[in-house]
Amino acid sequence: MPVPPMQTTLVLVKPDGVGRALVGEILARFERKGLQVVGLKLAHLGKDLLERHYGEHKAKSFYPGLIQFMSSGPSVVLALRGLNAVSIVRGLMGKTFGKDAAPGTIRGDFGISDSFNLVHGSDSPESAARELALFFGPGEVLDYPQGNRGWIYDVAAELS
Ligand code: RTP
Ligand code: MG
Repeated sequence: MPVPPMQTTLVLVKPDGVGRALVGEILARFERKGLQVVGLKLAHLGKDLLERHYGEHKAKSFYPGLIQFMSSGPSVVLALRGLNAVSIVRGLMGKTFGKDAAPGTIRGDFGISDSFNLVHGSDSPESAARELALFFGPGEVLDYPQGNRGWIYDVAAELS
């Protein structure tokens, strides 16, 4: 079986995830699922960048608080690659707020707050392309072999 087409998506471990020392736990969930880390950095995100990232929410009442929260401390910025990576990441994250998110999801397991919610994931392939270009410069998202790919995607030729 050939390797299926891959998607790359943008994930942020938000300032509450970094502040609560949950970066390793959250990243491990994505890795264990089979997603490949192709970009990774720690950054204290500035308001200009966050306003571009969350531009679709500009008119919403929660927007000022969202920008304040997201700029309150460092975030981990990730590019994750895999089959259907956009929807797989959204599934692993769970519903927007921990009080509603199912157990087994990141938001469901680690939060109750209805404003701090640990992670961001792009909501469509189009959003992913836009957001990856916002957070990563040229050469910062890498192409390299995924060592365990044969097992993850049932690529028989890579298992022999
Ligand atoms: P995200 O964009 O961060 O991955 O989250 P999401 O798709 O699940 O939720 P979205 O509707 O895009 O909202 C973006 C972020 O804004 C904050 N928010 N606050 N107080 C509120 O009603 C409210 N609604 C949204 C959350 O931090 C949410 O992740
Ligand atoms: Mg969103």
